[in-house]
Amino acid sequence: MPDPLAHLIENNRRWVETITAQDPEFFGKLAKQQRPEYMWIGCCDSRVPANEIIGLLPGEVFVHRNVGNVVLSNDLNCMSAVQYAVEVLGIRHLIVCGHYNCGAVNASLDDMAHGLIDFWIWPIKQIQRRNPWISSLEKGRQREVMCELNVVEQVSNLAECKVLRRAWAEGQLVDIHGWVYDVQDGRLRDVVVQLERDGDTRALISAAEAAIRARAVG
Ligand code: CO
Repeated sequence: MPDPLAHLIENNRRWVETITAQDPEFFGKLAKQQRPEYMWIGCCDSRVPANEIIGLLPGEVFVHRNVGNVVLSNDLNCMSAVQYAVEVLGIRHLIVCGHYNCGAVNASLDDMAHGLIDFWIWPIKQIQRRNPWISSLEKGRQREVMCELNVVEQVSNLAECKVLRRAWAEGQLVDIHGWVYDVQDGRLRDVVVQLERDGDTRALISAAEAAIRARAVG
């Protein structure tokens, strides 16, 4: 039986050739050590591949993706990745990137039952409950605004987690950036929020939410 994935293996062979043609030592150097400056926390969505969007090679961005780019302190997977990124790799910039047309965010806005995923998107639904003003917007706008607010929420969760609290208390330089990506044109939108060690986290989060609201209601 022919291998239905043979073309992917072939793609890989060509990709290795292209990279080693530019730098014969590329994989040898990477095998010894990864030293990325950035961590990406994004959605699983196939249209939002971390490395490609920001033009980085293997070894340059440490990636965690889940449905809806959610950061929860009881998610061992996400928290382990964040801990490794901050404490072992000493990553300088953590990026939470949401995207428009996000299935998880859209699902959080309808009143249908989706099965298991409803447990996962429950924290996103809470954002809507806390922001009843969203319901006055038309549907498409509600979805966009929720993608933006979700990024701010997850940046806030990240800033509150033990790993970041400890890193900042010890003077480690690590920033958190909240971005939104537009799948329609491939562009990252203006920074939604940015937190630094000595910044007033709560004030910055509130200001980011207020700015999203002001833009949305006009
Ligand atoms: Co998504």
